[in-house]
Amino acid sequence: MMKTYLLTPGPTPIPENISALFAKPIIHHRTPAFQSIFEDVRQGLKYLFQTKNEVLILTTTGTGAMEAAATNLFSKGQKVITINGGKFGERWTKLAKTFGLNPVEILLPPGNAVEPDQLEECVRQHPDAKAILFQASETSTGVVMPTQEICRIASQAGMLSICDAITACGVFDLPMDDWGIDVLITGSQKALMLPPGLAMIALNEKAWKAHAQAELPRFYFDLSKERKAQAKNQTAWTPAISIIQGLQESLRMLRNEGLHNVFKRHDLLARATRNAAKALDLELLARKAPSNAVTAVVVPSNIKDGKQIPKIMRDQYGVTIAGGQDELEGKIIRLSHFGYCDRFDVITGISALELVLHELGHSFELGQGVAAVLRTYAEASQR
Ligand SMILES: Cc1ncc(COP(=O)(O)O)c(C=O)c1O
Repeated sequence: MMKTYLLTPGPTPIPENISALFAKPIIHHRTPAFQSIFEDVRQGLKYLFQTKNEVLILTTTGTGAMEAAATNLFSKGQKVITINGGKFGERWTKLAKTFGLNPVEILLPPGNAVEPDQLEECVRQHPDAKAILFQASETSTGVVMPTQEICRIASQAGMLSICDAITACGVFDLPMDDWGIDVLITGSQKALMLPPGLAMIALNEKAWKAHAQAELPRFYFDLSKERKAQAKNQTAWTPAISIIQGLQESLRMLRNEGLHNVFKRHDLLARATRNAAKALDLELLARKAPSNAVTAVVVPSNIKDGKQIPKIMRDQYGVTIAGGQDELEGKIIRLSHFGYCDRFDVITGISALELVLHELGHSFELGQGVAAVLRTYAEASQR
């Protein structure tokens, strides 16, 4: 028997009380029972997004909501600025190209966040761009982007700020209204502790005005249609009913914990993971701006095949973490610490990592990483 643990940046583990809901008989979505759940969920999402705007629920994955942003806000040939700090930033550029937009890409070296000066320079050179599309947390590199600064720059330039917060919303503070985030996106299989299948997108007044002018074709992801339906606690199409039932419960859990405490928990787990990496003589990919969602650790140079680390952790110890993607494959590993994740999940992950690094010949004293995690917790509890 081997117990298994999921420490990936999506899907993340699902709490038992939510999993139990999925065993119940399905209900129909054009009923008062569903409408009552939906109404509650709409309120809960406003709390999560820290907004007065309507948060629309789409039955799709995160990429679907990114596509909805592209097709609902622009017309063919319009220029947009994309911040490519990794695989998901690159996705904005690909989406923009696919739909006939004209993306100007800021390409960052892996592990870097955009510098406000760099973005301001790009905005100066491209004053005709309509929007800045970026990730609040670039999952492929474990970098946190300066969202508040990006939104300020976009607002001053009269551009829209379109924030993919798929591994950020519900992980760290991203107050949509206070920071003037014009469009905010998240997905169910991340901090919301649900299976994949739902994405959420909120637009503020400025974004709805852009939507009214936008001419790109759209059908399934027509946000006007969704807004109209959702105002009546309905969805335009058949939704992922069961996941919406789960969402009601996960939003209740987040509200009970309190967003501020949720952010504090993630901050503690992220700091513990980073301290463990340091204690194990491992380098972080994101040296300056590490995300509290996921920690990307550079594979030490004495380990030739970095892909072995997640593989052995999973096959021998039952601990699933993520490796690197594309050009980072075999070069980094990514330990996730958000969603339904608490202090002893980090200890499990670091313990398994230590065993595998030891087996692969990385030089350190066993237990150093775990000790660093424990010290981080002990210090936090004394404050
Ligand atoms: C930052 C970010 N953006 C977009 C996506 C794509 O979401 P999905 O795989 O749900 O389509 C992910 C998924 O991991 C992500 O982490």
